[in-house]
Amino acid sequence: MQNPVIVALDVPRAEAALELAAQLAPVTGAFKIGSELFTSAGPDIVARVRATGAAVFLDLKFHDIPNTVAKSVAAATRLDVQMLTIHTGGGLAMMQAAEEAAQQTARQMGREAPLVLGVTVLTSMDSNTLSEVGAQANVGHQVERLAELAVRAGLRGLVCSPLEITALRQMLPSKIQLVTPGIRTGKEKADDQKRTLTPREALDAGANWLVIGRPIYAAENPRVAAEEILKSLA
Ligand code: C5P
Repeated sequence: MQNPVIVALDVPRAEAALELAAQLAPVTGAFKIGSELFTSAGPDIVARVRATGAAVFLDLKFHDIPNTVAKSVAAATRLDVQMLTIHTGGGLAMMQAAEEAAQQTARQMGREAPLVLGVTVLTSMDSNTLSEVGAQANVGHQVERLAELAVRAGLRGLVCSPLEITALRQMLPSKIQLVTPGIRTGKEKADDQKRTLTPREALDAGANWLVIGRPIYAAENPRVAAEEILKSLA
């Protein structure tokens, strides 16, 4: 089995991120670089994390007109990221353009295309906030609707909450990769994640990848925390 643990490098500065990456690379499937780190440290951070030998998941959640998203995805592909995110709410044409740009740019560079992951409904949204923006108020239905559209557009993966894995697994082709944050082992302090699964439960429910932030980087010993999580999956 490939290592399914993606460690979120949710720290604001390059030095702290690189220290974590160096320490964790041997026990990590990939590192997630989000908009805070990318914006403060700059695109070079991708190459510096890649230099540890680990894969990079660039989580910038692109959402714009198809032409702009395609060019952003092409740029991310040239940075040599292995996974990246776009918002499915950008529509069918935008998602098609993103997947096409990933494939075409990777072909030109002679490397494998990054996995373009669709983000459906942010877990910070509920039925009230969905209604406010004019979307279908039922969160589950909205997630399923956007997931179907993503698959129709040719995306090969989605980001989903732990509580959506089972329903999405039932309705989506089995080759679709599901990437899940909201993972807690039960040993860490309570924080803002309300709906969580353990790493084992998430994989058993059908997730392919687990995005884990604070339970690893905020642990007293991040390397030991990551090793314990891996042991729980063996
Ligand atoms: O620290 P924690 O394990 O909660 O980190 C989870 C990571 O996954 C963070 O980078 C967070 O932004 C991201 N994420 C999330 N929930 C989502 C989508 C992304 O927690 N629905």
